[in-house]
Formats: sequence, C-alpha cells, structure tokens
Amino acid sequence: MSNPMNHNLPTSTSVRDYAGNESTSSSYSWRDYSVSQAPTYVNDMHLSEVENTLRQLPAIISNHEITFFRNQMMRVHTDNGFILQIGDCAETFRHSNLNHTAQRILLFSELHRILQRNTPNMVLTMGRMAGQFAKPRSYMTETIDGVTLPSYFGDVVNGNTPDMRTPDPDRLFIGYSTAVETIRHIRLSSYAWSSFETFPFHFGQHFFTSHEAYLLPYEQSLMRFNEQTADTHASSAHFVWIGERTRDLNGAHIKFAEAISNPIGIKIGENTNAKTLQSLVKQLNPHKKMGRLSLIFRLGAKNIDRCLPMYIKALKGKSVIWICDPMHGNTKRTASGLKTRTMDDMMYEIRRFFEILKEHGIHPGGIHLEATPHNVYECVDTGANEDALQAEAYLSACDPRLNADQAVAIITYTGLLMGR
Ligand code: PEP
Ligand code: CO
Repeated sequence: MSNPMNHNLPTSTSVRDYAGNESTSSSYSWRDYSVSQAPTYVNDMHLSEVENTLRQLPAIISNHEITFFRNQMMRVHTDNGFILQIGDCAETFRHSNLNHTAQRILLFSELHRILQRNTPNMVLTMGRMAGQFAKPRSYMTETIDGVTLPSYFGDVVNGNTPDMRTPDPDRLFIGYSTAVETIRHIRLSSYAWSSFETFPFHFGQHFFTSHEAYLLPYEQSLMRFNEQTADTHASSAHFVWIGERTRDLNGAHIKFAEAISNPIGIKIGENTNAKTLQSLVKQLNPHKKMGRLSLIFRLGAKNIDRCLPMYIKALKGKSVIWICDPMHGNTKRTASGLKTRTMDDMMYEIRRFFEILKEHGIHPGGIHLEATPHNVYECVDTGANEDALQAEAYLSACDPRLNADQAVAIITYTGLLMGR
C-alpha cells in the first residue's frame, strides 16, 4: 500500500530506558529478540510501510498525560490507593461506538464509586479499553470444518470469521484511529454526564486507558521520544501490560517494557517460579520507582494459597503494586465446550488475595476484571449450574466476561474486603 505520509523514516532513534540510560533502538528493538506468539504477516514490506506511517502520526497519549498518569500511579502506590482495571477481554472495532463506549463508562464509573465509598484513599480507574484489540492465543492455529486457519488474534490483527483470518497490516491503522476516537468518546461522555450526581466529578480527566502490549509492530511504531525530558513512552495507552504468554525474561516484550517510561504491568500465573519473578522485578524497576511496576496475579482459586505466600517471600519490600486478576486463572471449559469462570472461584481468589497480603502487611493495590455492560451470561453465577450458559447470551470475542450485575457483585465484595 502506498501512502503519501510514508517517508521511510529510519527505524532507529536514540532513547533512554526507565533507568535513564541512553541507548539506541538497535539495543532495544524487539526485532533483536525472540518474539513469542507473533502472528505471521505474509507481506513484510506492507507491514513496514504501515509501521513507517504510524511512526509519523501524533501520539495517542501525549507525554504530558503520561507524566500526569505517572504521578497519579506514584500516589496510588505511596498512599495505599486502589486500582480498578476493567473492560473487555478483546475489544472489537464494531463495538467501539459512542453508545457502547458511553455504557462502558457509566458502568465503570459506578464501580469506581462503589470502591471509593470504602476507602479514603484514591481509587484510580483504567479501562481495558481504547486499544485492547490484540490477543495472544494458546494455539496459533484453529481447525474449522476441517480447514486449519490462523487463530483470531484480535481485530487489530485479523477478523474473527474464517474468511478474515489472514493477518492484515492495514488493520493497524484502524486500531490507531479507533483508539483515538474511543478516547474522544470517553471525554465527551464523561463531560456530558459530569452534571449528574452519580458521576464522580472529573472522572473523565481521570479515566485512563490500558491494554496488553502484545502486538509489537504496533507498539513500537507508537513509541514517542520527548527531547526535553529525554524520555521514551508508549503512546498507545497510559498503561500497558505484558501478558502471561509473552513475559520471557529475554524476550522482545520484556525488552519493550524496559524501554518505555510508562507505568507497566506484568501478568503472573501460577507456573511462575520465584526466581523469575525476582528477575522480572529487578529488570523492570531497577530503581524501585513507586508506581512504575504493577504485578497482576492471575493464579486461580486452586493455586492462590500455595503460590501467593511464595511470591511474597520472594519479593519482600514494597517496590511493586499488587493487583488481583481473579479471571484468568479460573478459566475452564463446560461440557459443551464454552470457556467460562464461576463467581465462586473468582470471589474465593479475591478474598484470599486480600487475606494473605494483609497477613504479611502488604497493601492489596487493585483488581483487574473482564466485564461488559452488554446483557451477556458468560460467567456462572453463585449457586447456578454451568448448563445455564447459552450461546445466545455468550458474545465475547475471547474470554468470558462479567455482566453488569456480576461486576457490581464482585466490586461490592471487593469493597467490603477493602474496608475491613
Ligand atoms: C488477558 O488479560 O486477556 C490475558 C490473556 O491474560 P493472561 O496474559 O493473564 O492470560
Ligand atoms: Co482475557
């Protein structure tokens, strides 16, 4: 594809890592490291043309906003605040419209308000939103009606229907503009509602965006260097995290995370060994900056009692924010093949997360949820049978999400644990 904005900029710029050390892109470029889980693009030239164009577009999140957000995260960390990180497992382009975004904001702000009632300290809300378009998958391919196809890697890579599975670089442009428009919608919606009492004042300005930094061609094209502060940040979102499947210590995703100055998260699953965890923390936050690093634990109800004390012992100190993701360690399949999670498992994991951390004098710093305002039934209610899951009410493009009632139940429960 030719594009008048494509001037074939060189791919390297001088950057400083989080520790302030200057380096050139050749020492951090993801291309120099193994990239786990990368979708395969058939036309490399096409992909690099798109990357070059993206490099010349404005930052989605400006350097000023990152600075503001970094300060807010520092406050959350030092003053025992609480993070609510919430949204779809995979956002779709089709649902990134004004109406749906307005509903998401309304639900998330209500949940924010419930939590805020339980603590005098800051509750900081960030959506899995305005950029959560790319998904690593457990299997790189999928066989449908006897034909083996690439898996669906999220709308910014390919389409969910069998005829759209070839990764298409032009989708990166749609991802960029959809993220920009969603952020504009967030601001418009929250300004419109800030006159209602239920709406926390200034929620709009203080609503942050986050997603998994999985698709490195996109992420690296949106890295921006600020000459004044000599600082490089990921401009695709305020906060990005590295997923459980891509967080190899020497892999490209962790190198990318090292090179950016944003507050970042790392997902930690039950198979992480204590040494790896220590190395990740040391590598990603060498100067123990408050607010820089959040660990998002997704251990599962059956593993948390065994794993969490081990990780607490390994880390000691307070250089990270401890966040509970009660969703991803509790995924299972029903007899009919649907992925689901039960409210019982999630609530157990949250309760034990709070109890175990508090026993060790550590502040539980947040909760990470997959939820939607759509009227779905993808997770199993307390006391209900999983047979009640029906394909008609199961709309997720990826993992099972909480519906609004379930999200309110989980957050009310979390609020009670916070207040104890
Ligand atoms: C996710 O957050 O949707 C996800 C894939 O999580 P994890 O990396 O923890 O499996
Ligand atoms: Co998910």
